Amino acid sequence: MIHVTGLHKDFHVKEGAVAALRNINLTIAEKEFFVLLGPSGSGKSTLLRCIAGIEDPDKGLMSLGGRTIYSSADNIRLPPEARGLGMVFQSYAVWPHLSVYENVALPLRYGANKVEGKTLHDRVMNALSLVQLENLAQRPVPFLSGGQQQRVALARALAIKPKVLLMDEPLSNLDARLREEVRQQIRTATREVGVTVIYVTHDREEALALADRIAVMHQGEIVQIGDPYEVFHHPTSPTVADFFGEMNWLKGSSEKQGIVSTALGDISVPASPLGALKLGLRPCNIVVTEASAGAANEFTGTIVDEIFLGEQVQLQVQTTSGVRLEAKQSKRGRDRWLGRTVWCHVDPQDVFVYPADHAAPAMQAA
Ligand SMILES: Nc1ncnc2c1ncn2[C@@H]1O[C@H](COP(=O)(O)OP(=O)(O)O)[C@@H](O)[C@H]1O
Ligand SMILES: [Mg+2]
Repeated sequence: MIHVTGLHKDFHVKEGAVAALRNINLTIAEKEFFVLLGPSGSGKSTLLRCIAGIEDPDKGLMSLGGRTIYSSADNIRLPPEARGLGMVFQSYAVWPHLSVYENVALPLRYGANKVEGKTLHDRVMNALSLVQLENLAQRPVPFLSGGQQQRVALARALAIKPKVLLMDEPLSNLDARLREEVRQQIRTATREVGVTVIYVTHDREEALALADRIAVMHQGEIVQIGDPYEVFHHPTSPTVADFFGEMNWLKGSSEKQGIVSTALGDISVPASPLGALKLGLRPCNIVVTEASAGAANEFTGTIVDEIFLGEQVQLQVQTTSGVRLEAKQSKRGRDRWLGRTVWCHVDPQDVFVYPADHAAPAMQAA
């Protein structure tokens, strides 16, 4: 459906050139919910704006539904309105002097998407019902909550029946509770109409919850593409592993396939390269118990800190080897863990293994 090949974009500022996009390659399937995820400044908005046609790349090729929309080699650059796209931004961009109905009807009254009479009315009401706002059609927009205003923006974008819906951080201006509510609405509405979506966010939870596939961006590059499970549980680099949350990192070396010696002790891993390695353990993959199960990858220690996070508890375990591990467990009951002697176990399949010279974890969640 959407192909992006070899896309480059530099911004020229006083200090020199900023490489906002470097060699971007993507294929997005029809009706896919595709998320661009990365920290602030990683190039997400620039990529979305290049696809929309409101930013000009320096080089590359883009096609949409088999039609070339941009080609530096053939000097093709379709204007934004000819690309068949709908857009929703962080700022709701709704017109304050118009009602909910008129805001949604506006793009249908002029230009390429013009329709009239009953067709127009039906299109507006359908779009409003997709976001459950049909009862508020006549309300002036300033009398809506932020979440409702963003749903108006979503209805307006869907009313033109775009082939592709582009969304840039549409939930960032909403408080946490509304964010989840509107997120759910975005999920339901876009599935119902079966539109292809490209969605930009710096919020990993939002990305995991919404995406069919996620492209993780870092400094203008796509560093991994995969479904949510894959990027979370099988990050191909420390950068991606770090972006999805706190990690325990260990230096190691391996002389025998599948066994890595570390300061924590020998760790069993799935087939590993030999030589100097870097191991990553996700706190949620460390199982903390009060008795040894006698399995591989068990390390004993004392709980030196316990932070209650509601659904989970975050534990710091000072192991007898001197390595401190962070673990997260689901929390039930009132009992406290602090001071107890415990066993930490990690399944060999859950150990992330990288060559030691893999780029240092530099990424911070924005
Ligand atoms: N109009 C611009 N002029 C100069 N630099 C820009 C401009 N827009 C973006 N950039 C730079 O390009 C990089 C990528 O920006 P952006 O795509 O907005 O990132 P993101 O959306 O991931 O936060 C950043 O370093 C940013 O400072
Ligand atoms: Mg942005």
